[in-house]
Amino acid sequence: MMNTKMQTAINDQIQKEFYSAYLYLAMSAYCEESNLSGFAKWLKVQYHEEMEHGMKLMEHLLERGGKVTLGALAAPPSEFGTPLVMFTEVLKHEEYITANINELYEVALAEKDYPVQVMLQWFITEQVEEESNATTILEQLKLVGDNKGALIMLDKELGQRQD
Ligand code: FEO
Repeated sequence: MMNTKMQTAINDQIQKEFYSAYLYLAMSAYCEESNLSGFAKWLKVQYHEEMEHGMKLMEHLLERGGKVTLGALAAPPSEFGTPLVMFTEVLKHEEYITANINELYEVALAEKDYPVQVMLQWFITEQVEEESNATTILEQLKLVGDNKGALIMLDKELGQRQD
């Protein structure tokens, strides 16, 4: 059985993962509205990934006899500016999530919750990939600059992302 402090920390992280999903879903819709269907697809896949992250934490909590308390989700923005501005936000958001995961790991260490430590190893590795993906796209957008043709090419490439 997990202690109350650990349960609260995990419930907080579940809320952040589901908010991440909500944020990327809003970004996906915005890209679709902007005729960037490849970006929209990439972000929709990301939305699904974030839902899975939230579920993974929730399932661990339930497996350990914990209490799931889902918090309210704030409304994400509906406008995100240019793809460059948007992916600057994506990277910033992922860095924020990495910091949250690291803090959660600190709680698991302090509370001597070994199963949570093991479970969080997966998230720590995943955050390296999350930040790397966002950085790559952001750097590509910097290379694209004002070149509309290059933006369309990148949109096509991002549209290849599979669930
Ligand atoms: Fe669940 Fe994108 O971190």
